[in-house]
Amino acid sequence: MSALILKINENNFDESIDKASDIIRNGGTVVFPTETVYGLGANAYNPDACLKIFKAKDRPADNPLIVTVSNFDMVNDVAYINDDLLKIMKKVWPGPLTLLLKKKKIVPSIVTSGMDTVCVRFPDNKIALSLIEKSGVPIAAPSANLSTKPSIVDSKDAIEDLIDRVDAIIDAGRVKYGVESTILDATKKPYELLRPGAFSVEDLNRLFGEIAINEAAKGYKESKIALTPGMKYRHYAPSKKLFLIENESEFRKFISSEESKPFTVLCNENNAKYSKYNKIILGFDIYEVAHNLFYAFRKLDKDENKYGVIQSFPENGIGFGVMNRIRKASYLIIKDNEDATKTILKNKDN
Ligand code: TXA
Ligand code: MG
Repeated sequence: MSALILKINENNFDESIDKASDIIRNGGTVVFPTETVYGLGANAYNPDACLKIFKAKDRPADNPLIVTVSNFDMVNDVAYINDDLLKIMKKVWPGPLTLLLKKKKIVPSIVTSGMDTVCVRFPDNKIALSLIEKSGVPIAAPSANLSTKPSIVDSKDAIEDLIDRVDAIIDAGRVKYGVESTILDATKKPYELLRPGAFSVEDLNRLFGEIAINEAAKGYKESKIALTPGMKYRHYAPSKKLFLIENESEFRKFISSEESKPFTVLCNENNAKYSKYNKIILGFDIYEVAHNLFYAFRKLDKDENKYGVIQSFPENGIGFGVMNRIRKASYLIIKDNEDATKTILKNKDN
């Protein structure tokens, strides 16, 4: 089976959405863009169709799927949401904030891995919204990457990885943000941040009052107690060993040394001048870095060097989500007070 590739543009927009929504209605799988990353979707009300998502991604059955909607009626169809919360969400949605809510019966248990909660997402992307609207049902859609691999931010990577695994791929180039939506647990008070992402914590605090930050949100593995299924799996990781140096002067020291020769350096434009050998420049500001991060992880896996090394970024705004992804992708995190060169040399071949 080879997926139908729908290269969408202004001229064939409706026709492409018609084809893709037919596939969703008939129980098939479609890869589509959102404003954050590409999703791999199926009719959320059809358990057989949802099973295909797990198979296509090699996703463990106990890792639940986000339900993606295109209007507020659909939110009410799938989950219990009170009026106060709804009022706030009308300011935020469509947008990159996903809510964990109590689910309604109509959502099959395969979608939520048997739990009584459901993650609801209302994406700010015309293609995604049109596809859901035209399909007439909410679409269950995790990120489109193969399980444990970096999320997909460019349709050509979706085609490369998924052509033989899904029914259709909407080919729409690069996405806007490059990191996934922020996930907020709204089933308890205070609300709790489960995953930082494209929607900033500063905005969450402004809208919802002070929110709680789950321990796992920073992305340190050793602090990770699996509170929700989604937190227990390794994510986003390149196949190569990636070393994160949290201290900036240690990072600069390492990348300007001879020892960095077998490493590809992932850094911003400002630090690029310190690197003597191979580098992937992530961008100038944190938005560019977010936009290019997963793309850079894929590039790292394809280049000729044996290892990768990456700098850290300030954890405000989208930077919090960026650092969560980088920590989760890292083989080893070199903390602020460590001698980076020494630690890397000691650990690179273990
Ligand atoms: O930006 C995004 O959110 C993207 C785009 C495609 O919409 N989607 C995405 O889905 O990132 P995914 O499956 O890669 O990440 C969703 C996370 C997973 O870690 C999953 O375990 C968690 O949300 N999740 C989903 N439903 C849950 C539930 N009922 N309880 C706890 N965690 C849940
Ligand atoms: Mg994912």
